[in-house]
Amino acid sequence: MTLESQPLRDHLEHVTGFSVPEDRWRSIAPRLLQRIARRGFADTHAYLKHLGEGPFGRHELEELLEVFTIRKTSFFRNPATFDALAREVLPPLFTNRARGAPPPSIWSAGCSTGEEPYSIAMVARALAPSDPRPCYILATDIVEAALTRARRGVYTQDVGTEIPERFRHLLDVGDGRAEVAEAVRSAVEFYAHNLVRDAYPRPASGSWDVIFCRNVIIYFSSETCRRVIATLWNVLAPGGALFLGHSEVLWGLEDRFDVVFADETFYYRKRRTPRPHLPRVAPTEPAGTVRASALPAVTPANGTSLDTPGPLPRSMSQTSSESARAAKPFVDKTPSRVMPALPFDLLTRAETSLASGDQEGAARTLRLAIARAPSWAPPRLLLGRLYADRGENEKANEELEVAVKVTPLDARAHMLLGMVRERKGEREAAEDAYRHAVYLEPDLASARYALAQIYRATNRPDRAKRELRNVIRALSGKEAQAAVKLTDGVSPTALVELCERELLELGE
Ligand SMILES: C[S@@+](CC[C@H](N)C(=O)[O-])C[C@H]1O[C@@H](n2cnc3c(N)ncnc32)[C@H](O)[C@@H]1O
Repeated sequence: MTLESQPLRDHLEHVTGFSVPEDRWRSIAPRLLQRIARRGFADTHAYLKHLGEGPFGRHELEELLEVFTIRKTSFFRNPATFDALAREVLPPLFTNRARGAPPPSIWSAGCSTGEEPYSIAMVARALAPSDPRPCYILATDIVEAALTRARRGVYTQDVGTEIPERFRHLLDVGDGRAEVAEAVRSAVEFYAHNLVRDAYPRPASGSWDVIFCRNVIIYFSSETCRRVIATLWNVLAPGGALFLGHSEVLWGLEDRFDVVFADETFYYRKRRTPRPHLPRVAPTEPAGTVRASALPAVTPANGTSLDTPGPLPRSMSQTSSESARAAKPFVDKTPSRVMPALPFDLLTRAETSLASGDQEGAARTLRLAIARAPSWAPPRLLLGRLYADRGENEKANEELEVAVKVTPLDARAHMLLGMVRERKGEREAAEDAYRHAVYLEPDLASARYALAQIYRATNRPDRAKRELRNVIRALSGKEAQAAVKLTDGVSPTALVELCERELLELGE
């Protein structure tokens, strides 16, 4: 009997919320299946049953997660984030702390091997050097092995270059390794926590002053993102700061957060009072919230209590078009740094910069537009195209993956994503994107031609022929201008000729 990989993939995605990209799955699936076979399971379903049972099953799941998840991180990743933390988020928390009140609390959710929470601890220490515990810092991750490494606080020597000069004395470097100073290590508590399934911890004060959840939800489905963000909102103090990764979007939840711009970065602040004329915001606790007393596991020290990622409040389950409609009558009276309106001006400015050959300027302006309106696709699409033109395929891919999530009905976004995925060697994922494109815009000849090339390269001549014929059909009789649009600027006549030649080569 051959082992099936799809049920395992579905199971792991269900447990973690993490939708593993196609190319990655193809590279790790054989390893995982070998593992199942080595253990003598002839059937993936029997193995999945074993995963849920007893300590051995849990240990096995843990090892799978280690392979399955992406744990890339670094010290001071996106340094502007830590500048914002040091300059404007932490100082008021220190200054406004009432006598005898618990210290400001920071949760690093999805902390991987610890570089992020240690960077936070270094910043906090620099701001309050005489206080042995200026903040309560909790760091969590779903992968135990990552936490074990994190607790040790020992890294390779080259991490020194990631750490700004002024913090380097907090790192003991020698013999090819770098060890985080005890004062920093002891400032962080590490616990295992699954953002998708477990109850959420709370600090002694009742809610977190700052939450970092960067580069974690990027691979979650939009529904899971919404649920996780809604629960993070719930455990965040009013006015508290939420740092997400730069490609992560608040999926129509902006009415409960303000976007705050800080030089090269942005973060979110939980609004103290909901906006007046948006649909009614849910009560402070979403349904399904449980308290510490009801939960045995993952109970951090300091008397923390826990919340579960409960069902979405109604206002948070809106589709983006619903929330766009709901937001229409809203007149923004918030301070000038908070700009929920769509930044058309920035888009125009970026287009002008591009037209004059200033790619750097255009990219900067587009990043600013994205920061202002993270769920608005046009600047992401333009930036994706710009990166693609410069051969920066990873960056292009990152923007375009988000763009197709926020604008799933835009055929050209899928088309562009397909091109970038192909350049990255992810042929199957590219095919998927092109198929989306032609499903949405059946006459999009450039996508049909790209599909035909993939079918030819993967020895599916009948499909290739069908797509080549489709290209010819799509372009015949179309007004020249419309046809150019469908071929993304390539001459329609040249494309038709090419298709005819290829059909001949394929024996037609
Ligand atoms: C790419 S790392 C990001 C690390 C760090 N936040 C940063 O930005 O550098 C993502 C981390 O999220 C963790 N993760 C994935 N799914 C998770 C889940 N459901 N709950 C908690 N952590 C999760 C992974 O194990 C991984 O360590």
